[in-house]
Amino acid sequence: MRDTILVTGGAGFIGSNFILSWMETAGSEVINLDLLTYAGNPANLSSLDRDPRYLLVRGDICDADLVGSLLRKHQPRGIVHFAAESHVDRSIASPGAFIRTNVQGTFVLLDQVKGYWSELNAADQAAFRFLHVSTDEVYGSLGAHDPAFSETTAYSPNSPYAASKAASDHLARAYHHTWGLPVLTTNCSNNYGPFQFPEKLIPLVILNALEGKPLPVYGDGKNVRDWLFVEDHCAAIRAVLQRGRVGETYNIGGNSERTNIEVVNLICDLVDEMRPPRSSGARRNLITFVKDRPGHDRRYAIDASKLTRELGWQPAEQFEGGLRKTVRWYLDHSSWVESVQTGAYLEWITQNYTERLAI
Ligand code: NAD
Ligand code: DAU
Repeated sequence: MRDTILVTGGAGFIGSNFILSWMETAGSEVINLDLLTYAGNPANLSSLDRDPRYLLVRGDICDADLVGSLLRKHQPRGIVHFAAESHVDRSIASPGAFIRTNVQGTFVLLDQVKGYWSELNAADQAAFRFLHVSTDEVYGSLGAHDPAFSETTAYSPNSPYAASKAASDHLARAYHHTWGLPVLTTNCSNNYGPFQFPEKLIPLVILNALEGKPLPVYGDGKNVRDWLFVEDHCAAIRAVLQRGRVGETYNIGGNSERTNIEVVNLICDLVDEMRPPRSSGARRNLITFVKDRPGHDRRYAIDASKLTRELGWQPAEQFEGGLRKTVRWYLDHSSWVESVQTGAYLEWITQNYTERLAI
């Protein structure tokens, strides 16, 4: 077994941040298995183009033969599984892809990894890790005064996305419980930062604000999310991979609960500061309340005290500072922005917002 890790979905938002930070910290070889769907962008990792430690394989986690042959060829000591369909609104529009990749794909991956792992010698089996990256959405929705989600909160997924991730968490747990596969699961809150595809709230609002377009806020704008800067999520994943207790789940969160309208107002003010508006006035004037997401979860909040207690992890970034860095990043990376605002992106914006903005 080599020191290599196999990352799935490493060309997406969190996966590419993870690979870049892995190269700077742990530094061992990375095989990135990614289907390069609309959300996967190899340009996120172009700084590694000539790095002999990095290999991108375009392929599907549902392809058992491909996964099995990659494992035997590269002999990884660990898997970090990010690959998923990840956008809640898309899961409401077309749930099938979420069942295929998130449930079937995770099953294929676990099953192939079990076969590979069972052929390793005892020392390599003991050192091996499968880290399943999941979400706080599996726990459902909180009321305003409920305690934050802990690792023992009962699962109560509300969207097809959340249900597909919950199913994948149960499969990961079952492969550990039944066969002893060394699985770890992380359930994280909302991430933001560089390379996030602009279908999600924060990059969508940054780019619309820059372009003087309406800023669509679902419902009353008082839904709450617990925001975490993506680099803090990557650091937590490294800690769990390297020192987490096998078979455990760890919640990861930012201690930064904000209503959506607070987030959008803050983005407007940051964009006004960095790109002062001309005649059109303050960006807050662009805020438009639109038709709500069906089944919209009201509040997420994460209790990450287990991760802090056991592994000493804490988020390094405060929300306001992280958001400032993120707005700056989108302003400074206009060619990245242009390259992703193409076919699949434009189709989605038309599909999701035309009817909503009309109310
Ligand atoms: P993303 O949508 O930006 O990226 C997903 C990546 O997976 C893309 O590169 C895509 O090409 C790839 N992919 C999709 N289907 C595939 C398949 N069948 N085979 C191989 N690759 C495939 O997602 P993200 O926001 O980076 O999220 C990564 C993971 O983290 C997901 O599992 C998600 O559920 C989880 N998560 C995300 C957040 C968040 O706020 N974004 C929070 C908690 C957990
Ligand atoms: O909680 C973790 C989850 O966070 C991850 O598992 C998901 O992969 C990730 O997409 C994210 O899910 P959300 O649905 O919370 O993220 P999104 O950015 O889509 O929306 C954040 C909030 O903003 C949510 O309450 C819906 C609202 N929203 C979203 C969009 C796209 C708007 O008001 N307007 C919008 O246009």
